Amino acid sequence: MAKLLLLSVCGALALLGVYSTGTSHLEKSRGSSDNDGIHLAVSPQCGPFGGKTTNVNAGIVFGAIETIVSFGDSYTDGGIDNGSTLLPAVLVPPNVEAGGRSTNGPVWIEGLSGDWGAKLMDYAQWGACTNLSLWPSNPRKVDFIDQMATFLGQSNQLDPETTLYSIFFGINDYIASLIDGDHLPQAAETILNEIKTLSSPPTNGISFLVVDVYGRGNTSAWGEAYKQQVFDGLRAFHEGPAKLNVAYVDLAEIWDGVLGSDPGYEAFGYTSTAACTLCTEDCDQYGWCMDPEHYFYWIDGHPSKETHRIMADFVEEVLQNCKV
Ligand SMILES: *[C@@H]1O[C@H](CO)[C@@H](O)[C@H](O)[C@H]1NC(C)=O
Ligand SMILES: *[C@@H]1O[C@H](CO)[C@@H](O)[C@H](O)[C@H]1NC(C)=O
Ligand SMILES: *[C@@H]1O[C@H](CO)[C@@H](O)[C@H](O)[C@H]1NC(C)=O
Repeated sequence: MAKLLLLSVCGALALLGVYSTGTSHLEKSRGSSDNDGIHLAVSPQCGPFGGKTTNVNAGIVFGAIETIVSFGDSYTDGGIDNGSTLLPAVLVPPNVEAGGRSTNGPVWIEGLSGDWGAKLMDYAQWGACTNLSLWPSNPRKVDFIDQMATFLGQSNQLDPETTLYSIFFGINDYIASLIDGDHLPQAAETILNEIKTLSSPPTNGISFLVVDVYGRGNTSAWGEAYKQQVFDGLRAFHEGPAKLNVAYVDLAEIWDGVLGSDPGYEAFGYTSTAACTLCTEDCDQYGWCMDPEHYFYWIDGHPSKETHRIMADFVEEVLQNCKV
């Protein structure tokens, strides 16, 4: 754990183009060497690959990963959506977005790529769903299919052996399903179709990480069925002729643990489950809370940078501890 946290500090500094050795006042002034005291108070439940949805890593060797290609929504949006180098994850008030991100610092996938020393190519876009043709109500007209088109249009020559494809959708599909009806089976199918495309020529991808937290603490029968369909599809890719390396990470344990009573937000080090920028009393000059380091959310429904860090920790724990 200590090693991962230290690496994460280096990752954050590297993003800013600032390198330091050892413990400097710079790290302390950033207050992030211990993630401001925010830590995982749950550990991933691992399960067999088969049966009910759970956390699994079937074949991803993260020591071998040199490039991460990342698709998703605002939870993964690094502020630049064409795979190019991201802007520094620095907040310039009164703008609530650190370098275009939907949060006040680095997003989880930057934590992961920083820890691994991997190059990040991020195509994620705030507001994105899997497939716009399923969701007329999705407010922003962007989806996984667009992100794939951007990526494929670049004809990137990436080595399949050292490239991980990360896919994290579901939140906007779930919200849209409450309005447009249950098209989540087709949304799950879209994710699986796109993995099929990425694993075929010319990309020939072999390693795929799928992350989910569709209900952010809420569940529904159709949401659970959506997860199960993606999970079963991943297993088929792993066990079938393509023998893909796949991992499934369900972040619901964090949301349930923080927003529910077992173990509750205090156990993670938070003082509030609210969004800092929705401050109503004791606010700073920008209308933000005085103690953003200990808030679960930064903007409404969107993880703070400390929450992003524990999301990365959770993903790493799954990849390490949930090998099947
Ligand atoms: C990616 O997007 C950024 C910001 O819009 C732009 O400055 C950059 O030129 C783009 N890069 C490519 C390769 O399209
Ligand atoms: C997107 O949804 C439409 C409508 O269900 C479907 O025809 C299409 O195949 C889907 N796209 C992908 C890539 O799965
Ligand atoms: C969860 O469900 C409750 C009750 O229906 C609702 O008020 C809340 O907005 C939902 N939260 C999310 C993140 O969907």
